[in-house]
Amino acid sequence: TILVLDFGSQYSHLITRRLRELNVYSEMLPCTQKIADLHFKPKGIILSGSPYSVYDADAPHVDPAALELGVPILGICYGLQEMAWQFGKGVTQGDKKEYGHANLKIERHTGKEDHIDRLFEGIEDDIEVWMSHGDKLSALPEGFRPIASTPNAPWAGVASITKPYFGIQFHPEVTHTPRGTQVLGNFAVKICNARQDWTMEKFVDQEIERIRAIVGPKGQVIGAVSGGVDSTVAAKLMHEAIGDRFHAVLVDNGVLRLDEAKTVKKTLTEHLGINLTVVDATSIFLGKLKGVSDPETKRKIIGNTFIEIFQEKAKEIAQEAAETPRAGDIEFLLQGTLYPDVIESISFKGPSATIKTHHNVGGLLEGMHLKLIEPLRELFKDEVRALGTNLGIPEELVWRHPFPGPGLAIRILGEINEEQLKIARAADKIFIDEIVAAGLYRKISQAFAALLPVKAVGVMGDKRVHAQVIALRAVETTDFMTADWFPFDGEFLKRVSRRIVNEVDGVCRVVYDVTSKPPGTIEME
Ligand code: XMP
Repeated sequence: TILVLDFGSQYSHLITRRLRELNVYSEMLPCTQKIADLHFKPKGIILSGSPYSVYDADAPHVDPAALELGVPILGICYGLQEMAWQFGKGVTQGDKKEYGHANLKIERHTGKEDHIDRLFEGIEDDIEVWMSHGDKLSALPEGFRPIASTPNAPWAGVASITKPYFGIQFHPEVTHTPRGTQVLGNFAVKICNARQDWTMEKFVDQEIERIRAIVGPKGQVIGAVSGGVDSTVAAKLMHEAIGDRFHAVLVDNGVLRLDEAKTVKKTLTEHLGINLTVVDATSIFLGKLKGVSDPETKRKIIGNTFIEIFQEKAKEIAQEAAETPRAGDIEFLLQGTLYPDVIESISFKGPSATIKTHHNVGGLLEGMHLKLIEPLRELFKDEVRALGTNLGIPEELVWRHPFPGPGLAIRILGEINEEQLKIARAADKIFIDEIVAAGLYRKISQAFAALLPVKAVGVMGDKRVHAQVIALRAVETTDFMTADWFPFDGEFLKRVSRRIVNEVDGVCRVVYDVTSKPPGTIEME
């Protein structure tokens, strides 16, 4: 394992990401981590960037025990300055901040020191790198030599003469540093001797073993599934580990897509063999949503009602389980939390390193005292997809676009009723079918049809009509934080529009949303 200590840079998690791409297992922990409390011995440590300056009174510093472990250390940006701080305190504010591309000249010392050239081994003498810093080294740290420079930073790369310690000012983890992954790979593999054996098959075996050990031979687990990739993959993994002692629950909240509950049931039970209970709570949800048009109120109603219903069903299932001979009580709750959510909740955010607990398990299943199991907590989204494929989950499901918890309730602007749901479902189905038929589904990150709360005039047949408007939304994005609308060709939009107006009663117009995020959001409410 390569340990990444996060000092709060927006790029920190990408370091872990790049190492995993090289099949090197890597874990990120907040910079306040005490080395003595680690549950593993790292083969090497990487210190990330940070919004702080090392000379600030409240600046975070690495546990000095890290320097006594005797393992290689690589400091990136703030991490470099932290190395310099530990070895002589030579860091000052730069005359100008440096953001963006820079040209890095590598200096080799071949023959002089054994390890010192390894970081840039196999890499050209001149490479493009990405910089983002305000501070710089004012002196070479004691016992260090320069190994790379840029026109603005004579010590853009340094290495200790006697120890396997390195520091670089640029960010190797971002794609703007084309050779960056190779630099990280050199550190992990050539300098730390980390093994490149992190594979999905290995992960599956380890995780199944781990789940069995935690749950024990009789223990039972409950979890909600949504039909999305994360909860399905988590459920399948759990099923592989403990079979029918895992109980999946799908709550039909009445605002799912066309035939969704039926399709999920078919896939999970028939295809994947998962022990699933479907709760049809349509009338309860729609009853509570009646007359409500404020988006946040809709979200709250749906969230709270979901908890109530899931809780009730969980108690029922627990009751039945307790009466089953040879099985234990339900003690665990499965959640499909991914690595980015975990990072979000553990990452170092300020001088007092707040560690949020983002799951309110007690609140979710009040009175049941369940312990949380999160088998996907080490994975990024694309790794979850690879895992899903590995577990035999159908391709269409593995590559499904995300769908929000509040469902069609936030895609029908204004008040929701059966009639509006029928229109929104039919239009969405046509749009998605056409996207799939055009071979565009995977290129688009998320697409849907929304129903606007207005009426417009049209002529249909020979009659003037006054009917509703469907807005199509399709975006491309990597992280869902920013997004661009998808540039369909005119023929495609014409076809979708014609089909929706002809086939969906109550709609006389179709518009395409050409707003990026920001300023728009992906959903329309
Ligand atoms: P926005 O609309 O904020 O969406 O640009 C970003 C991503 O989050 C999803 N989303 C939600 N997911 N509950 C959810 O589970 C919600 O209330 C919610 N609102 C937005 C949205 O579908 C997109 O993938």
